[in-house]
Amino acid sequence: MPDTTSAGPVPAAPTADCRALARALSGLHFIDGAFVPAGSGRTFPVVNPATGEEIGQAALGDGTDVDRAVRAAAAAQKEWAKVPARKRGRLVADCARLLNEHVDELGRLIALETGKALRTESRVEAGVVADVLEFYGGLGSELKGESVPFHPTMLSVTVREPLGVVGAIIPWNVPMLLMALKIAPALVAGNAVVVKSAEEAPLAVLRICELMNRVLPKGLFSMLSGFGPECGAPLVSHPLVKKVTFTGSVETGKIVYATAAQKLIPVTLELGGKSPMIVFPDCALDRAVEGAVTSMRFTRQGQSCTAASRIYVHRSIYERFGAALAARVDAMVMGDPLDEKTDIGTIISPGQFEKVRSYIEIGKAEKDGSWRACSAMPADPALAKGLFIQPHIFMGLPPTSRLVREEIFGPVTCLFPFDDWEAVLAEANDSDYGLAASIWTNDLRVGLQMAHRLEAGLVQINQNLVVQANLSYGGVKQSGLGKEASLEAMNEHFTHKKTIMVNMA
Ligand code: NAI
Ligand code: MG
Repeated sequence: MPDTTSAGPVPAAPTADCRALARALSGLHFIDGAFVPAGSGRTFPVVNPATGEEIGQAALGDGTDVDRAVRAAAAAQKEWAKVPARKRGRLVADCARLLNEHVDELGRLIALETGKALRTESRVEAGVVADVLEFYGGLGSELKGESVPFHPTMLSVTVREPLGVVGAIIPWNVPMLLMALKIAPALVAGNAVVVKSAEEAPLAVLRICELMNRVLPKGLFSMLSGFGPECGAPLVSHPLVKKVTFTGSVETGKIVYATAAQKLIPVTLELGGKSPMIVFPDCALDRAVEGAVTSMRFTRQGQSCTAASRIYVHRSIYERFGAALAARVDAMVMGDPLDEKTDIGTIISPGQFEKVRSYIEIGKAEKDGSWRACSAMPADPALAKGLFIQPHIFMGLPPTSRLVREEIFGPVTCLFPFDDWEAVLAEANDSDYGLAASIWTNDLRVGLQMAHRLEAGLVQINQNLVVQANLSYGGVKQSGLGKEASLEAMNEHFTHKKTIMVNMA
């Protein structure tokens, strides 16, 4: 049963006071079962992007901290691998139950540090984290190998063994969920994990690490905060790290892959996207408009690798669809992320804010095309410094525009008219990315043909749900390598198969 005491300065019971919790978590890593400051003693500020206020500090990790966490993990992993697989799963499921009690707390804390609205995003994310842990918690006995009919007098079997210490590097957009997709299968499969959090969102994941450490053996799951080159890079290159799993930009993913290649260790990469949504005139228009709002993740300010940032609409309904989408987004409330009335919060950081704004300027300067800014900016003077950007809908930009080619990672989508499905299929596939796609039609023949021919890891017809437990998730082309969220993801990406042969003659 989970321990009810906490290992340090934070409250043991769930708290609604996210500001006090942020302060209590300040300046700390969680290494080898305890909160500790960085070896260097240095910290960096964590900022609420809705107000610009500093809400706390994070420990500034470097190679020394990495080494401490990885060595502790390596020691803990040796014992963990001896724990029966179902029991490992049961402990991860116990973590899920504990996290479930903290859903509201974690939702508030992540809303405070990322600017994601509590009702539409942050609390939802916290709930899904517990769901992912519960799902993997039941899969311990599925770590199966196979027997191979090699020869009548020879028994030839494969068994799955853990890889050792897993280094996990996570981004800031959905940090708790994206971390859960890594740590849950890694732990159930018998590995230890060291997570390097994103510099913009280090606190909620640190609380999760502390909570899970009340259940898990010491050292098995540690959490470091810090910057990519100083803290992420030494984690990837550490000799005791035997697998790296990364979610983030294509650029950083390639650096991680190149470093891991020097050690010949396996890597899972979940990178960017430029996901198309294709809308046919026979679909239910209202549902497709609603689908565009969720597909584009407007409630997450479009900060999603699967955001439907290219929307192709049949010419016969193009103008109607554009107007209906703009009206629907207009009705969404932008404001204080912690206010239950708010639909849309803020961009994560000044850097991302400038990046998104510069794309909007590029779009407005294109010779062809029109645009609309939707939703009113918040009027509250307390939010005057907030990183709010109105959702922008561009229509009819040239296909060569940078807004159409590049990942913006903000509330900006582009609509295009199309006439014929073979042509729009070619346009949809004309991208460096291949993460997700959706098709909106009741014509099964066209829908399924397109689903087979779209170059994407995940294609949905008449819906565009986010990642779901037990459905493999992962991109092709520049969108990444490997799968997450499924049984396959655990077995293929967090174990290796050993072959054992027995001569019975
Ligand atoms: P990033 O890829 O630089 O950061 C992701 C993580 O990698 C962070 O924890 C960071 O500290 C770490 N990192 C950075 N450099 C590293 C290195 N050399 N070695 C090891 N770890 C390193 O992404 P960033 O700068 O936050 O955002 C830039 C763009 O990336 C966004 O505009 C967006 O287009 C894309 N992105 C995609 C995400 C996705 O879900 N696929 C998530 C976040 C960003
Ligand atoms: Mg970066």
